[in-house]
Amino acid sequence: MISNVPLPESLLTNTGSFTLRRACHNDLSGLVTLLADDTISAGRGDRAASEDTTLYETALEELIADPSNEILVVVDEGDWPVATMQLTRIPGLSRRGSTRLLVEAVRVANNQRSNGLGSAMMKWVIDVAARATGASLVQLTSDAARVDAHRFYERLGFVGSHRGFKFQIEH
Ligand SMILES: CC(C)(COP(=O)(O)OP(=O)(O)OC[C@H]1O[C@@H](n2cnc3c(N)ncnc32)[C@H](O)[C@@H]1OP(=O)(O)O)[C@@H](O)C(=O)NCCC(=O)NCCS
Repeated sequence: MISNVPLPESLLTNTGSFTLRRACHNDLSGLVTLLADDTISAGRGDRAASEDTTLYETALEELIADPSNEILVVVDEGDWPVATMQLTRIPGLSRRGSTRLLVEAVRVANNQRSNGLGSAMMKWVIDVAARATGASLVQLTSDAARVDAHRFYERLGFVGSHRGFKFQIEH
């Protein structure tokens, strides 16, 4: 169960301390704003459009209810989301029955970037969340265009050892 992860936690950055906690329904607007606050995501359709609210609401509800998933927010003093990430615990047979922790949708608000918040989040994933969930591998994919983000992950010790493939299903 991913809900074994101890939360909330304080994350220290160059500009102060932030709280990392589980997302709740009230965070929807902050989460959608964070997704849209990124050109690559906006180019894929995450533009915080009001006609998409129901789609996001349904997805957030499903995530909150799913015991294998955790959607987390980092909030400022006003409890407003300034960063987010999604964690998924994936049990597996390979690598002698290794469990993986998948990190997706990592976003830090534009005005908070390069202050060490993203690093503090990923260090928490590696040092706390991976251990608490029994994971021996933390993995993620990142759009090939995100060269700054790749430098960020490599600095933290992630190795770009695999190529990611996606197949878009049209509905
Ligand atoms: C990548 C990201 C999560 C890093 O968070 P952060 O709080 O800015 O990270 P830190 O302050 O701990 O580290 C700074 C490093 O992040 C990276 N970074 C900074 N701004 C960035 C941006 N706008 N986009 C991508 N990476 C960025 C750089 O590698 C930077 O190092 P540098 O100063 O040597 O250039 C954050 O910048 C972000 O949300 N970017 C946009 C979305 C994104 O690329 N998410 C990752 C998807 S896989």
